[in-house]
Amino acid sequence: MKIAIILGTRPEIIKMAPIIRELERRTIDYFILHTGQHYSYNMDRIFFEQLKLPQPKYNLRVGSGTHAEQTGKMLIGIEKVLMKEKPDIVLVQGDTNTTLAGALAAAKIHIPVGHVEAGLRSFDREMPEEINRILTDHLSDYLFAPTEKAKQNLLNEGIPEEKIHVTGNTIVDAVYQHLELAKNNNILERLNVKPNEYMLLTLHRQENVDRKQRLKSILKGIELVAKEFETKIIYPIHPRTQKRIKEFKIEVPKEIHLTPPLDYLSFLKLEANAQLILTDSGGVQEEACILKVPCVTLRYNTERPETIEVGANTLAGAEPQTILKKAREMINKERNWKNPFGDGKAAQRIVNIINRTL
Ligand code: UD1
Ligand code: UDP
Repeated sequence: MKIAIILGTRPEIIKMAPIIRELERRTIDYFILHTGQHYSYNMDRIFFEQLKLPQPKYNLRVGSGTHAEQTGKMLIGIEKVLMKEKPDIVLVQGDTNTTLAGALAAAKIHIPVGHVEAGLRSFDREMPEEINRILTDHLSDYLFAPTEKAKQNLLNEGIPEEKIHVTGNTIVDAVYQHLELAKNNNILERLNVKPNEYMLLTLHRQENVDRKQRLKSILKGIELVAKEFETKIIYPIHPRTQKRIKEFKIEVPKEIHLTPPLDYLSFLKLEANAQLILTDSGGVQEEACILKVPCVTLRYNTERPETIEVGANTLAGAEPQTILKKAREMINKERNWKNPFGDGKAAQRIVNIINRTL
């Protein structure tokens, strides 16, 4: 049996890491195909180094571009590799352009596709990720849904139940595998902050940061929060947002302390010790929930409704006053919710299912 792991962005590297480790542990034949969607050192290589992952056998170096350019280049490159390697199954993760290109290239040449983190839905087709998720799910033969709710979304779209496996989300595996190591990390000292005396911000969604007014409005909301709670906001800034802030000539409020994107252990440590997390990231909503840190999501919807149901998260949208109101609501939340994303053994389950059925 030979497995192809296709990945290309920061969250895919982090969420595929537990599966790669499981394949290594069982000495199963596999290779990694990196599309090169992310390529800056601190969005890509830093994770391979820190998580001690083997180098990709192939890197297509597709880089940035419009959706069509990026996805098109990936399709061409992925097909060539798959025709040569002839894997028995292709695994893709999440909802990026890499995910869709990997699934589509494989399905067209009749290689079975396994989708890790299947069944998430925001029901908002303005998001490129929603389109990628829906198409990838419908191209896949193995749908590894993190929760029962995700499974239900797939059933509602007519996907046959025998293809769906509820496994938990590999982000729990990743958090559990690294939390102990993160304890020794000195990022708090480096940023001169103390546990529970700062908030953590991430912001990079296309629909939030590619529009000047929307981006300004969110930053205004963050400024109000910082002033009301007299707290520092740490913001490891995504390259997309960095580019837009420059282009739109936006002045970032002085309460927001910008850092370059961080390595995983530093970021985990910052999450675990934050008073509050403000984010539009998918993975960060999950990690906040797992780490029992209250979260304010800077969006009008989420494909992670489980975090809201357990009381770990709330939707604030992009209006400054609403962001402030939601921050007030969440900051004193009792941190007693249950993690809805599984027990940290999702990767084992996924590899077991593939092993048993292929
Ligand atoms: C992509 C995913 C998004 C995911 C995010 C994770 C899609 C449609 N979007 O968004 O779902 O949440 O990754 O972080 O697949 N850039 C760099 N260095 C890099 C990568 C990007 O400077 O290594 C800059 C470029 O200016 C580029 C911009 O960031 O144009 C956006 O990159 P892109 O990969 O298109 O989308 P992300 O916003 O990263
Ligand atoms: N992350 C990181 N360093 C950072 C910001 C995020 O290691 O500076 C990690 C974070 O812990 C999570 C993942 O990157 O596991 C989330 O990626 P991102 O927000 O880019 O994408 P999304 O999850 O929204 O697709």
